[in-house]
Amino acid sequence: MEMHSVLLMNGPNLDMLGTREPDVYGATTLAELEAEVAAYAASRGIAISRFQSNSEGDLITAIQCARTQFDGIVYNPGAHTHYSYALRDAIAGIDIPVVEVHISDVSNREAFRRISVIAPACVAQVKGLGVEGYCRAIDILCDMPELVRLGEGYEAKYSAKSAIKIAGVQEARSDDGVVHGVEACEDAEAAQDAPDAAVDDRNYAEAFAEAVADADRAALSLQRQQLVRDACPQLGAHSFLVRDTSNIKWITAIDGVFDEERAHALLVTGDGAFLHTDTRYSNAIRTQLDQMGSTIQVSDERVGHMVFARQVLEGSGELDAGRMAIEDTITYAEYVKAVEALGIESLAASTDTVVDLRAVKTPAEVIRMKAAQAVTDAAFRHIVGFMCPGMTEREVQLELEDFMVRHGGDGLAFGSIVATGANGANPHAIPGATRLEAGQCVVMDFGARAYGYCSDMTRVVFLGDPDAELARAWEVLRRANETVEEMLRPGVTGKEAHELAEKVLAEGGYEGRMGHGLGHGVGLDVHEQPVLNLRNDKPLVAGNVVTVEPGIYIPGKFGMRLEDCGLITDAGYEVFSELGHEMVVI
Ligand code: DQA
Repeated sequence: MEMHSVLLMNGPNLDMLGTREPDVYGATTLAELEAEVAAYAASRGIAISRFQSNSEGDLITAIQCARTQFDGIVYNPGAHTHYSYALRDAIAGIDIPVVEVHISDVSNREAFRRISVIAPACVAQVKGLGVEGYCRAIDILCDMPELVRLGEGYEAKYSAKSAIKIAGVQEARSDDGVVHGVEACEDAEAAQDAPDAAVDDRNYAEAFAEAVADADRAALSLQRQQLVRDACPQLGAHSFLVRDTSNIKWITAIDGVFDEERAHALLVTGDGAFLHTDTRYSNAIRTQLDQMGSTIQVSDERVGHMVFARQVLEGSGELDAGRMAIEDTITYAEYVKAVEALGIESLAASTDTVVDLRAVKTPAEVIRMKAAQAVTDAAFRHIVGFMCPGMTEREVQLELEDFMVRHGGDGLAFGSIVATGANGANPHAIPGATRLEAGQCVVMDFGARAYGYCSDMTRVVFLGDPDAELARAWEVLRRANETVEEMLRPGVTGKEAHELAEKVLAEGGYEGRMGHGLGHGVGLDVHEQPVLNLRNDKPLVAGNVVTVEPGIYIPGKFGMRLEDCGLITDAGYEVFSELGHEMVVI
């Protein structure tokens, strides 16, 4: 439908937002809310007019007049929702679409709030998404092909827990209360055309852009070069040739130039740093280093990295000054070249030297990781409204990934996992053609990359109310996750964290059902140091960023994992995600 002007209406007591029960409705005032929604609407080409009243009669008049003045209405009727047939009649009497919005999750509060006598006349209902819910309502209006109302008895067609209910879209619920997939969502194509699947143009990482740009990257790079230099004596070395691309990214502090190729080498000597690359990258690297004011010297000379290292060391008279450290992760073929170029006595092996340095994040890195998490959280909120029984795992994966890259992700942190039913029991399942079915749970492990840094999160979505077994496993899993997150702080070892999770799982009846390690570091790479597993006796330190991801896997039946990523602080563990651990049922 054509949508150019929308009336944003709020009913009784919503003028008190900001001071009224802030734990339920948040701290945003009505004026701030209206401004935020108006700004969002403007980004979709819509002009907003605002109206709030505590009086039923005035609201009815506003609705009647809106018929000729606006293309649609976004309306939070407040308590009128639950009893005002007069307002419902007013909405039913006009032929422009109205979306009912509630800031709080009315289905999770007192019984009287679960009833909406107004919703049947509306085209959709959005609840529990806070101010964001009003923006989703704008999306619904924009993407609505024609005016279709939710209608009498609409509740039976949707899970009470769905945050977004749109007329004619989503699952059907039969008399026994079970969500029946295929008839529910007709088919995946229909769901993709659904208004709530529409992709808006928000960039969820953008809010962090200023903080990211402010960092003095040349100084940061110099500090990191010095850390590498300082690590050399312990390795019996005098210089360090870094080949791992993520390590090079970290030391140089160059943004957005390196891809996954291992096409570069960075030689850190006693008093300088020399980057050897090729012409596919050299121009971009030079430009950025110039902008940063960096002193790193760049060469794209067509020689092997080891020959390059030899030339630099010769030129600076350091060839015989001592050994050159190389990472033990280089290939054997490259090791042979290193021996040819420099002689075996001139080489010293390094295990994880730079990787260990990367394990303590700076505040600037943490900001980047929070930006990546913001994109990941938004993708989860989106996918919960999108997915439904009948879709394949692959379809859900594609939507999830598409959302992340369209909403501020520079890319994906890794290929997402979407696994339903028994497939969930394979912790690293590859999403395939298996269809989501009512009664199952779906494990989704995914993460965006933003400003070069990764996020990593796993959430479980239940397709209809879970049976007793799934519900019990979920509670135990959540306890395992939260018990560990409570105890994490500097000084705790990765082994202790892992053992605690195993203990909680065992007490809940799931001994030995996890199999994998509890967590790992995250940063430029999705798997970094330190790890939370039985082999890590080293205490965590403030600045480490680790995941906590206990899992329960019952082969042939189901699997689930609940994963957060967060920062070890002096006070404990700061989870990056804002999603919380509520059970999600659609
Ligand atoms: C509300 C929910 C209603 O139950 C309540 O009476 C309100 C606000 C919400 O936005 O969550 O006033 O509509």
